[in-house]
Amino acid sequence: MIDAQSALASPAVIRREDYQPPDWLVPDIALDFDLDPATTRVTAVLDVVRSSAHGRPLRLDGDGQVPTKVLVDGNPHNDWRMDGDTLEIDLPGSEHRIETEVAIHPDRNTQLMGLYASGGNLCTQCEAEGFRRITFFPDRPDVLARYSVRMTADRKRFPVLLANGDPIASGDAEDGRHWAEWRDPFPKPCYLFALVAGDLSANRATFTTMSGREVQLGIWVRAADLPKTEHALAALQTAMAWDERVYGREYDLDVFNIVAVDDFNFGAMENKGLNIFNSRYILADPDTATDADYDAIAAVVAHEYFHNWSGNRVTCRDWFQLSLKEGFTVFRDQGFSADQGSAAVKRIEDVRTLRAAQFPEDAGPLAHPIRPDSYMEISNFYTATIYNKGAEVIRMMATILGPDSFRASTDLYFDRYDGTAATCDDFVRCMEFGSGIDLTQFRHWYSQAGTPRVSAALDHDAGSGRATLRLAQRTAPTPGQPDKEPFVLPLKLKLFGGETGAALSNEQLFMLDRPTADITFDGVTERPVLSINRGFSAPVIIESDRSSADLKFLSAHDDDPFARYEAMQQLMLDTLVAAVTLGRADHEPVIDAVRRTLEDPALDRAFAAEAVLLPSDSFVGDQLEMVDPEAVFRAREALRRDLGKHLAGLWRSAYANASQAGTFVYSPAAKAARRMRSVALGYIAASGAEDAADVAFAQFEAADNMTDRQGALTTLVNGKSDKRIAALDIFYNRYSGDALVLDKWFQTQALSMRDDTPQVVADLARHPDFSLANPNRARSLVGAFGVNQRAFHMAGGAGYRFLADHLIALDKLNPQTAAKLLPPLGRWRRFDPARATLMKAELERILATPGLSKDLFEQASKSLE
Ligand code: ARG
Ligand code: ZN
Repeated sequence: MIDAQSALASPAVIRREDYQPPDWLVPDIALDFDLDPATTRVTAVLDVVRSSAHGRPLRLDGDGQVPTKVLVDGNPHNDWRMDGDTLEIDLPGSEHRIETEVAIHPDRNTQLMGLYASGGNLCTQCEAEGFRRITFFPDRPDVLARYSVRMTADRKRFPVLLANGDPIASGDAEDGRHWAEWRDPFPKPCYLFALVAGDLSANRATFTTMSGREVQLGIWVRAADLPKTEHALAALQTAMAWDERVYGREYDLDVFNIVAVDDFNFGAMENKGLNIFNSRYILADPDTATDADYDAIAAVVAHEYFHNWSGNRVTCRDWFQLSLKEGFTVFRDQGFSADQGSAAVKRIEDVRTLRAAQFPEDAGPLAHPIRPDSYMEISNFYTATIYNKGAEVIRMMATILGPDSFRASTDLYFDRYDGTAATCDDFVRCMEFGSGIDLTQFRHWYSQAGTPRVSAALDHDAGSGRATLRLAQRTAPTPGQPDKEPFVLPLKLKLFGGETGAALSNEQLFMLDRPTADITFDGVTERPVLSINRGFSAPVIIESDRSSADLKFLSAHDDDPFARYEAMQQLMLDTLVAAVTLGRADHEPVIDAVRRTLEDPALDRAFAAEAVLLPSDSFVGDQLEMVDPEAVFRAREALRRDLGKHLAGLWRSAYANASQAGTFVYSPAAKAARRMRSVALGYIAASGAEDAADVAFAQFEAADNMTDRQGALTTLVNGKSDKRIAALDIFYNRYSGDALVLDKWFQTQALSMRDDTPQVVADLARHPDFSLANPNRARSLVGAFGVNQRAFHMAGGAGYRFLADHLIALDKLNPQTAAKLLPPLGRWRRFDPARATLMKAELERILATPGLSKDLFEQASKSLE
């Protein structure tokens, strides 16, 4: 546990209830950057205005720097002081002009927050609190300023100078330097500030908005990467049109630029008019990017673009409201992606993500509501809960309101809060006002953590023709929240006839808002089968007493594609849980259900390929009282083997049919074929077929695209054949100059189900291409290993030691990225005492590390509580 000494050094806890409006406002700021990777001088001129009749000094946030100059109203000023990192200045009047100068060092910035160097270029990342690492400013999202930015830099090294807003002027300076000025007319919080200086080339296009304005679009990358920007540029144009059509949102500046950088702490950043992206969410061509990469690029490009309204025009009052912009924007990007291909498959993928990343968070020591009550380090709250559960909460409101009321309510929200910093409650109030629906109780979704469990039992009295559905909800305690109020759960329901398959009811939307409820259906003459939480209408866990026969039936007959997928998943889960807990299970119902799905000619191939996949090791583990990773692995492999063997002919023909495609195209049908091919190949290998490695290797060699190549590599890397070594070498040599593809090489090995994965991963950590300094690379090995349930938890604790060693090392460079990789260690309560003891010991070792960041301190200490 935390000893007195480290508790003394604990970082301060910031509480939502302590929110106070800003003492000083900054309507305008002018920034002047004398750019150089070693030392950059930043001059900031702030027009400050006292916000009310108070006598408090001006306090400007910094991070480690001391001003080299302070002027007040143009005069040198010596009466300033540092309170920790904060610059404090007493001011007599209500309006003043403050000028400060600082020197910062981009090339020593390994945290990648503030102004930093990546691949020879300079760029910024300010969300959440990086702007204070650039200059002194009230670094909080409710201080909105108009920015003008001047940059001077060496013309040869940094021919391109970009910032937010519109370009104003540029010209030559002395000594081979040049300058540029940009102005952003829209007041914004400082977390949306950005600049880029570099040797970059643009893929350009235009977009004409719905009111007829022409916007210049540019995607900026290294010249050599220009051919890989077509997909992102097309996605941007599609997203701009989609937001006009679906939400009535028009773009508002004359330029919209995106810059791709290789060193980036997360996916991308929505800086006003100048989005900065992790290059993995921009660069794609068939040889280097998988279909999943293409999809993710379109989704992230859309996400960041959509923030222009949900995040920038309307921003957050404080960081506790983060889900106001992130949950809503994820919901928006999910809707966009659903409209680009199969909406059913998109929903399946989103629910899979929620279950893989958010349900465990909600069930563990780091559980928090989508609007948290407190934090030590806000970077730790860019979580699946804020983003993905946040999106589910918006989705539930959209379901409850219906499409027309929801659109009227979002219009109202954008209109009412444009140019302001709003709260989650402001959003909910707009939903109420636009629809006339009272959402008082619904607001528990914002204040309570934890995933509700809903039990559903259906009784049928054949004599009276009455069916009764008994529903009950309960939510387990989470840290700091022992008792939960009932949630409002919008549950889509339908009954089917167990013999005829006929619909016995229409789909209805039932609001479960009490602990229990009974619903009766009359005129039910046939034994009914329950379809519940159709479309995953509420982010809950359903516990039903449906038999495997009923689940099999629904997996073939339900007319809601998600419910159909879900029935198959439940059948698979029940089978695997039985295998683990009872030591044996009947595989026949699953085999039969998968057979029917493969044989159903009416089914979309993209859907069928997802439906026949077994739930992941971790998701099976999540269903157990205590996770036994080896037993889960064995049960899952046994079921895979039986599916592979018993349906061998079907897998072979699915594989052959899917292989008939000609050269690569990125279309829904071609994607579906590639997906089915990889899934079928996996089952062919699982069956133990002698030629499986040859088939995989042939696909690996013949592939004209990364999806097929990586699919084959994954199969080989999970298998026993020596061909995996050959394939890994070929892959490495072919792509040794491409960092994003090398990440796949590391990640595929870190995710392998082979017995030797812990050793392979330890060796890879010493590979010359491995580095903790690049977040993508660190995640591709250390992050992937942490979520490989079997390898990470192999008896003996070597995996735990490996993770802790690397977190401690990474923390010194980049605390934010280190802290993101800690949660697998915090799951110790879910494992046997031997593993739990080893995991806790590593958390304690991390906490005892001198100079630990508050990022890692918060994650590790909460994980031990
Ligand atoms: N706002 C960005 C996005 O979701 C992500 C910023 C993440 N910031 C952080 N400190 N982790 O689009
Ligand atoms: Zn976002």
